[in-house]
Amino acid sequence: MTGNSRMADLVNSAPSLLSIVERLDMRLGFGESTVEEWCEHEGKDEFTFLTICSIASSENYRPSEAELEKMRISDVIAFLRNSHDAYVYRLLPDLEREISMVLVGRPESQKKVIGEFFSKFKEELGRHFMLEEEKIFPSLEALDRKGHGSEKIFRHEHGDIGEKIQDLINLLLKYIAYDRQDSRVTELLSFLFRFKEDLVIHSRIEDCLILPLIEGKLSPREKEILVCVAQGLQNKEIAYKYGLSIFTVMTHRKNITEKTGIKSIAGLTAYAILQGLIDIESIK
Ligand SMILES: [Fe+2]
Ligand SMILES: [Fe+2]
Repeated sequence: MTGNSRMADLVNSAPSLLSIVERLDMRLGFGESTVEEWCEHEGKDEFTFLTICSIASSENYRPSEAELEKMRISDVIAFLRNSHDAYVYRLLPDLEREISMVLVGRPESQKKVIGEFFSKFKEELGRHFMLEEEKIFPSLEALDRKGHGSEKIFRHEHGDIGEKIQDLINLLLKYIAYDRQDSRVTELLSFLFRFKEDLVIHSRIEDCLILPLIEGKLSPREKEILVCVAQGLQNKEIAYKYGLSIFTVMTHRKNITEKTGIKSIAGLTAYAILQGLIDIESIK
């Protein structure tokens, strides 16, 4: 997958990329255009487009920090917002309609249980999208690059979303008895499998592109303090060195731990070395 690949070949080789093209607001009718030419034609950043495609088509692909720096954030956010709109205004209402059609004529208990399960899922997903759109995306757009501590909710909810849709599939697949072969149920299940795959890819794109931006980015002052901690300096020595209060140093240290997820001094020292902030030789 490079800038020289033809757009039509790219989509033919991985049809799931069709929705990426659509949600990036890129038109079809590529002709013989290459990725580079079509991105230019549509006013999209080629590198951002190719990175999103790579994440969507490969479970194990993770862009490096240097690659993340090259991404055009506005394209990513527009893409994610369009994806949310596709779920909220098109796919979820379609799914809801299909589910209620399948439940016609079935016992009240089945209608109630499945109907309520889906409504709750839809509500939770709506809340998750709202959190992203109101808290996370604007802060990234402003290049503030802080998610107000939302990264924990973000990661946890992505796991939860995938599990809920799988639960619904299993409820329909395993625990509802059908008297006869019903193509409507088969179609609904196929729809649910596609929907699940779509959501998994969406979450993966967010985990790869948004999470690294809202977590783990230490400010220059935090990096300085981390280096001091790795060198074995006490809080009061650090405070004296930078003319700060001990309270401020403690706040920085708390933020460093929150952003890196690393608590012990040994762990923070290893982190500082791995990030190239400090030379291993300078540690006593
Ligand atoms: Fe999202
Ligand atoms: Fe999300």
